[in-house]
Amino acid sequence: MSEHESAQVIPPSPSAEEYQKDSEGKPLIPDVADPIPLFRDWMAAARAAEPNDSNAMSLATVDTHGRPDVRIVLLKDISENGFAFYTNFGSVKGVQLKDNPVAALGFHWKSLRRQVRIRGVVQPVPADEADAYFASRARESRLSAIASDQSRPLPSRETFDERIAALQKEYEGRDDIPRPKTWGGYRLVPDEMEFWQDQAFRMHDRLKFVRKAGVWTHHRLYP
Ligand SMILES: Cc1cc2nc3c(=O)[nH]c(=O)nc-3n(C[C@H](O)[C@H](O)[C@H](O)COP(=O)(O)O)c2cc1C
Repeated sequence: MSEHESAQVIPPSPSAEEYQKDSEGKPLIPDVADPIPLFRDWMAAARAAEPNDSNAMSLATVDTHGRPDVRIVLLKDISENGFAFYTNFGSVKGVQLKDNPVAALGFHWKSLRRQVRIRGVVQPVPADEADAYFASRARESRLSAIASDQSRPLPSRETFDERIAALQKEYEGRDDIPRPKTWGGYRLVPDEMEFWQDQAFRMHDRLKFVRKAGVWTHHRLYP
């Protein structure tokens, strides 16, 4: 892509006036001891501000060669124990997490101009919790989770449609759709969390939390 073509699709850097206007009333990140309630506050603000998928996050994993990978998944639970998401255990991410049970999460709430980065080890969500979440999903979403060999080659879209149709027939008039053994949750137990708040002229505010022996400490970072 030429410089001219890039300029047509990539927005320009804000002008001094735009920066000034954008940054009015923008708070610094509060100096709290525990990052989990702060994260909840930011999630709540994001839910109110973002038109779609405020709980979407980048999930970064690494394969056995140390090659990073990343994709979006939805955050489904926040607690002192960590951040839970659901997926197919045989998917690319599932295989990478089996081989290398560490991951990083990235949130970017564009309307709020905020970012959160989280790192830690990943554990499976207990079966009873995964069952309860699976049961809460829409019927069609449950059937889709059963029908999908996520991330493996699909010969044609019709193959998937046929699988769904067969499951619809099998479970017609029934709601006892069992969670497949190949589908469930992971919980990332955080040992690092970083909050980033945009400020004018790229003088952003960053607060980094580190957990050692169960105790969180924090410090500010240069932008
Ligand atoms: C907004 C959004 C939300 C998504 N949520 C999930 C999710 O919660 N779980 C999931 O397995 N895939 C989700 N996906 C699809 C993944 O990004 C990805 O395509 C899929 O999980 C396969 O990834 P893998 O091949 O790395 O395993 C989502 C995609 C988008 C764009």
